[in-house]
Amino acid sequence: MSENLQTVIAKISKIFDQFVLDLKSMNSKAQVLDLKSKYIGKDGPLTIIMKGLKDATPEEKREIGKKSNECKDQIEKMSKSLLEELEHKEINRSLEENWIDISDRDSIRAKGLCSSGYHPITTIQREIEDIFISMGFEVLDGPYLEDDYHNFEALNIPKDHPARDMQDTFWFKDMAHLLRTHTSTIQVRGMENRTPPFKFVGPGKVFRCERTDASHEFVFHQIEGMMVDKNISVANLMYFSKLLLSEVFKKEVEIRLRPGFFPFVEPGFEIDIRCLICAGKGCPVCKHSGWVELLPCGLVHPNVLKYGKVDTSIYNGFAFGLGLDRLVMMKYAIDDIRLLHAGDLRFVSQFASI
Ligand code: DAH
Repeated sequence: MSENLQTVIAKISKIFDQFVLDLKSMNSKAQVLDLKSKYIGKDGPLTIIMKGLKDATPEEKREIGKKSNECKDQIEKMSKSLLEELEHKEINRSLEENWIDISDRDSIRAKGLCSSGYHPITTIQREIEDIFISMGFEVLDGPYLEDDYHNFEALNIPKDHPARDMQDTFWFKDMAHLLRTHTSTIQVRGMENRTPPFKFVGPGKVFRCERTDASHEFVFHQIEGMMVDKNISVANLMYFSKLLLSEVFKKEVEIRLRPGFFPFVEPGFEIDIRCLICAGKGCPVCKHSGWVELLPCGLVHPNVLKYGKVDTSIYNGFAFGLGLDRLVMMKYAIDDIRLLHAGDLRFVSQFASI
């Protein structure tokens, strides 16, 4: 061998030292990969040294080979750990840069992510709230997690009443708590801390354990309304319902009144509107009947008023429970309720300017 063993070993050490120095100035993954292949690639200084060992003794080859492999391993290890570090930095930087507060419409807009707007259900809910606020109604809220009393008992649906089967309930294991199946719970809660006369609406999500199809979802939205005063009649109920529906649709809609059964009202009604999607010809949304049930309602059952500590010898009332999802579907001719809940931006962004 032309050079002696120690000189070659020292050379390898120097190569390694130089690598360590070069590595310090690397600040991208690509640079690190380039540097690594420059040092330990097939044209790198270590390969050249190994190739120059033709006339070395087996002893020398072994020593130098060992040193060279150690050096390669170190280069490999150090590159790997720097690559990982840079990778983390990159992830953190991108998390920081791309972080968005999805509750902040302005920041979403500023990032040009989408022309954000309210979900059509939110829009229609607020519209209806405004209509009722303008008529002197309060807007109340209520919890999703309810108990048997507020969802059933105080609404004149005692245990074992067949009407419980009308509403497929998500029960909790204790069988005393549930996800509210309707916003009528807000009637019960509203009466708890009010004395008549009063009138309020209560919008919100409701939950039913049922199979989904074009017109059913297991989470949907209702707005409950209740008015308690002296001498409330069906005529009052009709007045508010007509006003509400014509304001929402911004046109005269064809409606029909049918008797309907709900344990919490007597008499109970269903107000249907002519299906706006098929103009009454029949489609999956109206179950091919040409009519869509929109507004179940009635005069509040005296038992319900009694649970609410309302003196039924002086006061009575009306109540209704409006399904918001169907209303949105009718208003914008949407033929599948599942579109409302799929979170598909292509769908919701169509309502951005509404
Ligand atoms: N709570 C009923 C349901 O979800 C809807 C309803 C019907 C509400 C009649 C009312 C009413 O206030 O009077 O099916």
